[in-house]
Amino acid sequence: MSATVRVELGQRAYDVLVGQGLLARAGELISPLLTGRKRVVIVTDRTPWALHGGVLTASLEKSAIAYDVIEIEPGEASKSFISFQRVTEALLALTIERGDLVIAFGGGVTGDLAGFAAGVTKRGIDFVQIPTTLLAQVDSSVGGKTAINASAGKNLVGLFWQPRLVLADLDVLATLPRRDMAVGWAEVVKIGLIQDRDFFDWCAANGAAAISGDTSILSHAVKAAVQAKANIVAQDEREGGVRALLNLGHTFGHAFEACVGFDESVLRHGEAVACGMAMAHRFSVAQGLCDKEDARQVEDALDAAGLPAFPSDLPGGPWTSAALFEAMSHDKKNEDGNLTLIITRGIGEAFVQKRVDAAAVRAFLDEDLNR
Ligand code: GLY
Repeated sequence: MSATVRVELGQRAYDVLVGQGLLARAGELISPLLTGRKRVVIVTDRTPWALHGGVLTASLEKSAIAYDVIEIEPGEASKSFISFQRVTEALLALTIERGDLVIAFGGGVTGDLAGFAAGVTKRGIDFVQIPTTLLAQVDSSVGGKTAINASAGKNLVGLFWQPRLVLADLDVLATLPRRDMAVGWAEVVKIGLIQDRDFFDWCAANGAAAISGDTSILSHAVKAAVQAKANIVAQDEREGGVRALLNLGHTFGHAFEACVGFDESVLRHGEAVACGMAMAHRFSVAQGLCDKEDARQVEDALDAAGLPAFPSDLPGGPWTSAALFEAMSHDKKNEDGNLTLIITRGIGEAFVQKRVDAAAVRAFLDEDLNR
């Protein structure tokens, strides 16, 4: 059983299938997208490959689809110019053609790197996302953002390159460590916080069960999060407006990540985002925009899922407000040297605030670090 969410992008529209048993059907589902010889190149890292690669390749073989595999190192370090060169040179050495497909099989790093490599090789090879982490299923595999990191910051070299199909197989989540489940859950909660109080309330009540791997809860969560993201991307593919709301918690969050050198062995992206979302609510309270009770509910919901809501709970500290503020001032959303933040009038009512008062942010950081 699977549900289909359509990302309505005109000629670039595609389906996201969410359900169980999809990996075993990958060959049959991908086959109609292969226009020429039936051939794919799988980009993956050793963790999903060792656990689930056999199911994928058996399904490709059943549909008579030839495949090659490019393995990358797990971890954020693979979103580098060197890995990008390795993957693109490997695609070319495998004589990939425009009628072939790249399959990104793994988490967010694999999807971002493989999607970018596919998007620029021979001026664009189609690709399919088969995300194997909760975070990749609910966020990074949908919407076409692909990128690698540069010395100046994360995700600064990339392009919008939409996949032709996304297969979010809930079965693969069963092998994910608890911490990986929690960091994906942060992006699910984010959807409720942005625009849907009822969904947030549902997340608050079901976070612990989701992290424990309850399939029916995860099924509802992934479908709802993907549907919400698909709606937002369909309205604003290139983040000129409403898509920026998906960055709720990311400006504060990125600042913590920058302070630990984006070292995911210390601090995970979803942990930084969770704390950042709670901070965006507390900052909004401090600005007189949001009810204090809403901020408390956010903290409780994150805590119930084992996610940090306060800087003092974040791995990698202690933090200084000067270092965090300095990192925030490099955020991609800033304009004319002024900070842009996603803040809120309450749960489900996030909005983009440009020209945020820097002194207010500094004062807030000083206070929040001492909670
Ligand atoms: N992860 C945020 C976005 O896709 O826009």
